[in-house]
Amino acid sequence: GLPARVRIHEVGARDGLQNEKTAVPTAVKAEFIRRLAGAGLTTIEATSFVHPKWVPQLADAEELFPQVKDLDAALPVLVPNQRGLDRALALGAGYVAVFASATESFAKANLNRTLEESLAVFEPVVRHAKDAGVRVRGYVSMCFGDPWEGPVPLAQVARVCGALRDMGCDELSLGDTIGVATPGQVRALLGLLNERGVPTDAIGVHFHDTYGQALANTLAALQHGVTTVDASAGGLGGCPYAKSATGNLATEDLVWMLHGLGIETGVDLGRLTATSVWMAEQLGRPSPSRTVRALSHE
Ligand code: HMG
Ligand code: MG
Repeated sequence: GLPARVRIHEVGARDGLQNEKTAVPTAVKAEFIRRLAGAGLTTIEATSFVHPKWVPQLADAEELFPQVKDLDAALPVLVPNQRGLDRALALGAGYVAVFASATESFAKANLNRTLEESLAVFEPVVRHAKDAGVRVRGYVSMCFGDPWEGPVPLAQVARVCGALRDMGCDELSLGDTIGVATPGQVRALLGLLNERGVPTDAIGVHFHDTYGQALANTLAALQHGVTTVDASAGGLGGCPYAKSATGNLATEDLVWMLHGLGIETGVDLGRLTATSVWMAEQLGRPSPSRTVRALSHE
């Protein structure tokens, strides 16, 4: 059966805004995060402590984080290495995410490292974060397809997932970075991870919506027992280092489906839609979310 409740891991302020061509003022980002919390989201990925030259859109992490830190929501932040973790801990972050790749090509493009080198960087980062009492998420990108390598062998994905679990990551997030997955692949990967001993409650799913499959993939994951789903308000998102990546599954589309299925989220869909309409005005273009469009033109 389906879960009674789903925890939405909101990534609009990070995955969404990292990909915007125009610079979004720090005050607007803070207001966006405040409104997301006000709409009932309890996990809101706030920013990334990555190299400012690699992702200039999030170069204001030091200014932004203190402005939102006391909100009544968990505020995970991305850290690519020890330098990133140090920056996050210095500001009192309590929840961080490392981000690995299932493929060599994307490890190189996104982290400037081989896959093995990147795992070797993450190992002490995860250990130091756990020692500091911080919750750690381990992203795995390109779980279902890679723009350079094509299909990705499931065993390769499972190996990277296992390595992150062995390091001590509290949860994994399975990334369909370029949005090519279909539900059969989702079922197959979740089945393999269970066989390898990864409990379903330690697995989140992260679908980009390039081919319009994100909701179908999410339903397949829910049917498998997954209760953590990543989504971005208004469907913002993409990755500057993965060509052909579009926005994430829109949080509004997800909430519409979950509430329709009688699954609790704690999210007020009206307030969330109003937030995405407001953010779209800030960005100067309409939200790609079907649900946002439907609800805002009623
Ligand atoms: P690098 O150039 O190899 O860095 O980049 P380095 O380790 O050689 O260090 C070079 C210099 O950068 C040093 O300074 C470091 O101190 C500095 P110097 O000694 O020369 O003066 N440096 C830093 N400064 C600030 N903060 C840091 C930091 N690290 C090093 N954290 C690096 C390697 C990992 C830093 C770079 O590749 C990077 O920042 N990559 C981030 C890319 C990124 O953010 N991508 C998007 C997020 S992932 C994603 O979107 C996918 C996801 O959504 C899931 C999915 O959809 O699949 C999560
Ligand atoms: Mg992503």
